[in-house]
Amino acid sequence: MITVEEHAPLRDLNTFGIPAFARYLVTIRTMDDLEELIHHPILRDHRYLILGGGSNILFTKDFDGLVIKSDLNGIEVQEQSDDMVNVRASSGENWHRLVLHCIDHNWGGIENLSLIPGTVGAAPIQNIGAYGVEVRQVIHSVEGVDLSTGSHRVLTLEECQFGYRDSIFKHALSKIFFISSITLRLTRKNHRLDTTYGAIREVLERKKISSPTLRDISDAVIEIRQSKLPDPAVIGNAGSFFKNPTVAGEVAESIRKEYPKIPTYPADHQQIKIPAGWLIEQCGWKGKTIGQVGVHPQQALVLVNYGNGTGEEILSLSKQIQESVREKFGIKLMSEVNII
Ligand code: FAD
Ligand code: EPU
Repeated sequence: MITVEEHAPLRDLNTFGIPAFARYLVTIRTMDDLEELIHHPILRDHRYLILGGGSNILFTKDFDGLVIKSDLNGIEVQEQSDDMVNVRASSGENWHRLVLHCIDHNWGGIENLSLIPGTVGAAPIQNIGAYGVEVRQVIHSVEGVDLSTGSHRVLTLEECQFGYRDSIFKHALSKIFFISSITLRLTRKNHRLDTTYGAIREVLERKKISSPTLRDISDAVIEIRQSKLPDPAVIGNAGSFFKNPTVAGEVAESIRKEYPKIPTYPADHQQIKIPAGWLIEQCGWKGKTIGQVGVHPQQALVLVNYGNGTGEEILSLSKQIQESVREKFGIKLMSEVNII
């Protein structure tokens, strides 16, 4: 049975640690809870926001509506062969716990995505990615309910329309589709290990590991992440605040004339990806602090709340950064974080 909490504090429910409130909050713990919510008048009378672990959200004000939090739990094998296994995980599960569960069972495919904060249900929303791998590479299907109609739906990989930090859940199904579970297709043997990311290779070489296991890769990723990303339990943040922009080859080359050391990567559709962290650093923002908020000294793409910052202060800082990158390089940075 669901209970509707009123004037619910959100500070502990977002990794920026922003002290906002929700007019109403409902936690979904079972599929029966979800069914009850679908028929509850509160869903028709108020706007709503689906919340996972709050690690990719910036509250700039109180949310004058219903926050729906998934606490659906469970990880189960749906089917398996000698080579492959389909694993279904409920949306409220912690993502990194799922990664560790898969490594414990020697199921390969998400080890490079170790230590990404947040829940399983949010993973397909922006097609989480890190260290050479995106979750779309292992998604079999995504299950949930369209809250605007109450209809249950299972989306196939193709139907999810994944792109870099993008999916159908940010477009046609934006805000209305409550993901209840995802099914991953993972390897049971002949794992397709991805060690192409330079930093992973360096850690493995230093540890003299020539035939890495899933756990070796996971441990390397954890080590790299801990060395440069701030822990939200210590300093409020939501990871990369902006997406890495892609530009036409000519644009990248014209910047390279002035900045020969600009790092670039090939992207889809013959575009070139430029790390936003580099652009922000070139504009002099790295390590800057304005009041209680700032730009992380080790990773310029991460905006931080040093304690008592507000969502408006973070938003204002992000706009100043966007403006200076636009002025200096003519490139528009798009936020990755969901601004509420
Ligand atoms: P939330 O922040 O709660 O929500 C994010 C979005 O998903 C919102 O639009 C929300 O409405 C929606 N949503 C959440 N749950 C559901 C659901 N069940 N059904 C429908 N919609 C839902 N991301 C990466 O891709 N790669 C990284 O390497 C990475 N590193 C990070 C490092 C740090 C230190 C931090 C703080 C964040 C990082 N992130 C990274 C961003 C973040 O961890 C991911 O985007 C994560 O998937 C967000 O999960 P969440 O449960 O916290 O989602
Ligand atoms: N760089 C700088 N200065 C900085 C930060 C980065 O010059 O302050 C340059 C460096 O040249 C570095 C390059 O940017 O080589 C790339 O940096 P990094 O490897 O740290 O990755 P990123 O592009 O900044 C992306 C993702 C991260 C993900 C890492 C690892 C985006 C928006 N961010 O960051 O995802 O963990 O790659 O794969 O794509 C997130 O989405 O929240 C997130 C943390």
